[in-house]
Amino acid sequence: MNFNISRRDFLKISALSLISSLFRKSPVTSAATNNDILCPRQLITDNCAASRVIMWHSKESHPQFQVQLKNADGTEKVFKGAYQRFTDDDTTIYIYRVKLDSLTPGTSYSYQIQMDSCTSPWYPLTTNDNDTIKALIFPDSQCSDGYITWKQVATSAFNDHPDTPLFINMGDLVDNGEASYQWRQWFDGIKAFMPMRVFAPLMGNHETYDLDWKCRLPKAFLNYFSFPDNGSTDFRNYYYSFDYGPVHFIALNSQFEEIDPIKPGLLQEQFAWLENDVRTAKKPWNVVLIHKDIINYENLNSPEPLADIDIVGKTFMPYFDKLGIDLVLTAHQHTYRRHGHIYNFSPSEDKGPVYIDTGVAGNCRYNVPRTKRFDKIMLPQPETDNYILLAGNASRLTVQCFLPEGKLMDTCTLTNSKQDISIQK
Ligand SMILES: [Fe+2]
Ligand SMILES: [Fe+2]
Repeated sequence: MNFNISRRDFLKISALSLISSLFRKSPVTSAATNNDILCPRQLITDNCAASRVIMWHSKESHPQFQVQLKNADGTEKVFKGAYQRFTDDDTTIYIYRVKLDSLTPGTSYSYQIQMDSCTSPWYPLTTNDNDTIKALIFPDSQCSDGYITWKQVATSAFNDHPDTPLFINMGDLVDNGEASYQWRQWFDGIKAFMPMRVFAPLMGNHETYDLDWKCRLPKAFLNYFSFPDNGSTDFRNYYYSFDYGPVHFIALNSQFEEIDPIKPGLLQEQFAWLENDVRTAKKPWNVVLIHKDIINYENLNSPEPLADIDIVGKTFMPYFDKLGIDLVLTAHQHTYRRHGHIYNFSPSEDKGPVYIDTGVAGNCRYNVPRTKRFDKIMLPQPETDNYILLAGNASRLTVQCFLPEGKLMDTCTLTNSKQDISIQK
């Protein structure tokens, strides 16, 4: 999709917001005056039941740092890590990464970041058990309003579902991946919740845009977040997988069209990795997360066979069929659509993965037509924002779509026969 003109206008408009933000003391900036620990966050590992990555930024360099972990019985342990200087958009920060390992599944801890004379509050950290999952999933959160909409959607979701220790963002976290003020606003929007929950973000196409809206390697995204090792030397942090409760999540990268001219091989590398990853997974559910949806809404009336399946779908769906993927969550179209089961590129009653385009969690909204063939459920138009609650166990997995005010709009339940899907409205 090409939105260059409106976004250039947006950048001009946002200059005022940027200037004002430079002179406005946000709570995060205010804290940094006395405490240079910025944007503390928990990142997923390959096994979130036993380990966790803690990351944060600082404005100044602090070579002495650690994370102290406290058990419920008062036992404490110190973990060390690494840090690096990072410059992007003429802004330099220092990014810290500490991995906490040998944790006990289903256990409540607290952790504190300690850096020179700075300390963070003690934040709760809960490892999941291997039996259940409850996670919030946010679609595209890119905004042109200072990320006020993102803050509102996320705040409502976290407040209405306080017992969701995992949250996922489906990509396009920010509108422009090089604009450092947008990353600050994005982090600022969820600073009251982020340090206490574990986070898994996907790379969207907007993470690959530079300030001139040309594609670049997504430098900020790749450095702000750390992901489980995918074994790649060229595309570390571009795609990954992780286990959480009864679910094996496979986070694929749909940005091969943007990345390939700059750095080829992302797609071919994922094919081999995907087959091996899924075949060695040991969880009851295999759930794919991928930013771009599989429907080509710009070509719905073409007589060409498979015209309504886009390049991402044509590329990956045969693998999903072959590997027995249960659920595929997508985004990018900024609209909630439950496509239902699709097998061999055709709608099915019970074969193939269930596909759901997760919607939009920012203020950038598109008009997207309906395909009666694939859009089984969509929200009333024009739709606003929504988020997803994914919950379940080894025998049942439920995907619910909520509006920010808490109204439940769609429920889709998969049972462990993997061929049954019951629909409640
Ligand atoms: Fe988007
Ligand atoms: Fe996108």
